[in-house]
Amino acid sequence: MENNNTNTDKENKEVTPIKKGEVVLREHSFDGIQEYDQRMPNWWLTILWAGIIFFFIYYVVYYTLGTVPTSKESMDARVEAIEQLRKDALQKTLDSLDDDIFVNKLSMDAEFVAAGEEVYMGSCVACHGADLKSNGGATARPLDDGVWHYSDKPMDIFTFILKGTPADSTGYKMMRMPPWEQLGPDKVAQVTAYLISKNKKDFEKFKK
Ligand code: HEC
Repeated sequence: MENNNTNTDKENKEVTPIKKGEVVLREHSFDGIQEYDQRMPNWWLTILWAGIIFFFIYYVVYYTLGTVPTSKESMDARVEAIEQLRKDALQKTLDSLDDDIFVNKLSMDAEFVAAGEEVYMGSCVACHGADLKSNGGATARPLDDGVWHYSDKPMDIFTFILKGTPADSTGYKMMRMPPWEQLGPDKVAQVTAYLISKNKKDFEKFKK
């Protein structure tokens, strides 16, 4: 009995390498799985330490010093640049437009009006109908009834289409006109010219 006990003690003791580089199999086993007791290889340790050092450098550069923009910052900057481009494009279009140009030039230009009709058929027809009657006024304000609820000035109609129903308005029969800024000012100008060309009598006072 005593002998047996000593033997078990000896078996449980872990073995340490005697020679440098000696491969040691540790004596314990879990469910028959045994472990080598070896130093991690240098390539592995290099990656570990490089990773740890990289973390500190990265953290300091990005979050403490703030010298390099984070991906959110560079994204924001890009979005801002796009916004600026949009604003510039709108300003450029606005500068080139006025009531007179809409009535006497753009709405008389067959090509420009045809482009506007294409925009209309793509984006407006669902609510306003191909005949501009807005399903008898059931789905939106009719666009052929001689009534321009907000303003009958071409520039105001252009802005209305661009921005949609103003925030302070309750709309029409609980419905609001969505903004069409995403079309870009050029297409909104085309569709405005198309509507003017279809309602010539409403804009006679701007005729020259
Ligand atoms: C989702 C439905 C819908 C779509 C699509 C839509 N509209 Fe409208 N539109 C409305 C509604 C609703 C009104 C009335 C809003 C109000 O009175 O504030 C309206 C009003 C208008 C008016 C003012 C009419 C008036 O008598 O004063 C114009 C102009 C207009 N839309 C042009 C357009 C153009 C151009 C497009 C396409 C680029 C378009 N709409 C697409 C729903 C729509």
